[in-house]
Parts: sequence; C-alpha cells; structure tokens
Amino acid sequence: MEDIEMCKKLPIPIIETIKKRCSVRTYQDKVLEPNVKELLQDYMDSLENPFGMPVKKYIIDRKLASEGEKLGTYGVIKGASTFMGISIPDIELAHVAAGYEFENLILEATALGLGTVWLAATFNRDGFASAMRIPQNELFPAISPVGYPAAKRSMTESLMRTAMRSSSRKEWSKLFYLDNFQTPLHKDEAGDYAEPLEMLRLAPSDKNTQPWRVLKSGNGYHFYVTYKSGISKGEEIIKRVDVGIALSHFHQTTLELGLKGYFKQAEPEKIELPQNTYYITT
Ligand SMILES: Cc1cc2nc3c(=O)[nH]c(=O)nc-3n(C[C@H](O)[C@H](O)[C@H](O)COP(=O)(O)O)c2cc1C
Repeated sequence: MEDIEMCKKLPIPIIETIKKRCSVRTYQDKVLEPNVKELLQDYMDSLENPFGMPVKKYIIDRKLASEGEKLGTYGVIKGASTFMGISIPDIELAHVAAGYEFENLILEATALGLGTVWLAATFNRDGFASAMRIPQNELFPAISPVGYPAAKRSMTESLMRTAMRSSSRKEWSKLFYLDNFQTPLHKDEAGDYAEPLEMLRLAPSDKNTQPWRVLKSGNGYHFYVTYKSGISKGEEIIKRVDVGIALSHFHQTTLELGLKGYFKQAEPEKIELPQNTYYITT
C-alpha cells in the first residue's frame, strides 16, 4: 500500500496536456534540439510510480532503417530518429507501473511540443531490444518515437486512425459504474472525481480498445481490466499496461486538482464481475 502523496505531480499542466496529446506517427526529419533532449532526459530520470515497482527507461538516437533492417517499424513511423523505451520485471503490478510511468513521460514530451506514439506491436522488438540493451530477463513492453510532428499525417497513419476510430472514446456508461456493474455512474455522482475520470477516458490504449473499467463504491474507485479469454500472455500484459496509462491520467489529474487519496489493493468482495473482467487496484 502506498500513499498517493508519495508520487509527485508532474511539473507540467496535466489536464491541458492530456487534452492536447494525440498519437504522432509522421515526423519532421529533424533531430531533437540538445536542450529539449536534456529536459526529456531529466524528466525520464525523475519518473516514479505509486506501486513501488522498478521500471527502467531508455532513449536512443537512431535513423530508422529501411524495411527489413534492424530498427524498423513496418513503415508505420516516418521521420523519427529518437526512440524511448521501457523494461520491467514480469510482475502483474509492474505491467501497470510501466503504463503509468511511460505515459507520464509521454505527457511530459507532449508538454514540450513533441510528438509520440506508444508502439507495442509495430516495431522490430529484437532490433530495438539490442540497440537499447534491454536486460535478457526483463519484459520489453513498448517503445515510442519522440520528435517534431510533421505538418501532415502519412497515408498509412490516416488509414490506421480511421480503422481504429482513434479520435473517439467509449461513453461514460460503458466504462464507469456505481456499486455494481449493472449501474452506470453519472458525472454528478462522481463529484470532484468527474474530471479525473474524464481524463482517464481520454487515455490512449492499444488499438484504442479502452479495456479499463472503474467501479465507484463508497469513497473508493476500483480499477478493472476487461479482455477476451484466450488472448496470449503478451496481449494480457499490454492490457495491464493500458490500465497503467489510464491510472496515470486519473492520478495526475487528482494531484493537479489537489484531491486526496491513496492506492491500495482492496478488491471488493461481494461484487459480481462481468465475464472477462479482472481486478487491478483501488
Ligand atoms: C499500449 C499501447 C500500444 C500501442 N501499440 C501501437 C502499435 O504497435 N502501433 C501503432 O501504430 N499504434 C499503437 N498504439 C497507438 C494506439 O493505436 C492509439 O493510442 C489509439 O488508437 C488512440 O489514438 P490516440 O493516441 O491518437 O488518442 C498503441 C497504444 C497503446 C496505449
């Protein structure tokens, strides 16, 4: 159990940055200015998570190799030459912590005017793992390019956004519940926490699946994840990373608004869970 105050608010405007963030896959052919890179490195060095899990961060400068070579992104990313990554031990809460910390970094990069995009699938994992020197015994869930966004999206990027409906999000009634999973939570019932929940709703997720669910019960907000049975272990890990991203938005917004609270493993006992829904944290 960790007190929420043990994890600091990021030194950027949170709500404004969350609203501004959007995945960028098309970049200007321009390296990061040294002072920007330095700031990013400082941000990286001071990341932390409320679960006390070790999350390692990496940043490398590489020109993207042409297709078939080591540092590829299957043609998804254009123009970027700096990449950030994370590695973690294989512990369930570390998967969540990875999402939390890397999303904090993504928000900080966004506040600097830089573009980013979480990549968990469309990159050559082996090539990047060796370039970033990821320890053999650690999981390497994701990377992100970081750079100056191009004025216009590539055709590939535009098609991807349309296919995943990247600019839209599920309604409140599909995500947030009160006391049980049959009763949707209305904004006015969330009081001061309506804004943190709204910021959670804007979180990015793998293929925009938005697998997070939140149940309010008394003064507590219980966080769950939903995914189909039979997905691979790697896919399950990414679902927990998605929840960590959502928790970054929720927690950092509560800190910006000065709301009090703490994280705790406190799964409610008598709540009937919908199929394929799993508890994460409270
Ligand atoms: C954990 C995670 C993994 C992702 N993996 C990929 C990926 O492999 N390739 C890609 O192009 N986009 C990837 N995305 C980006 C999502 O498709 C994107 O966040 C989502 O469609 C919502 O769009 P937005 O970020 O612009 O709000 C990933 C996002 C997350 C959070």
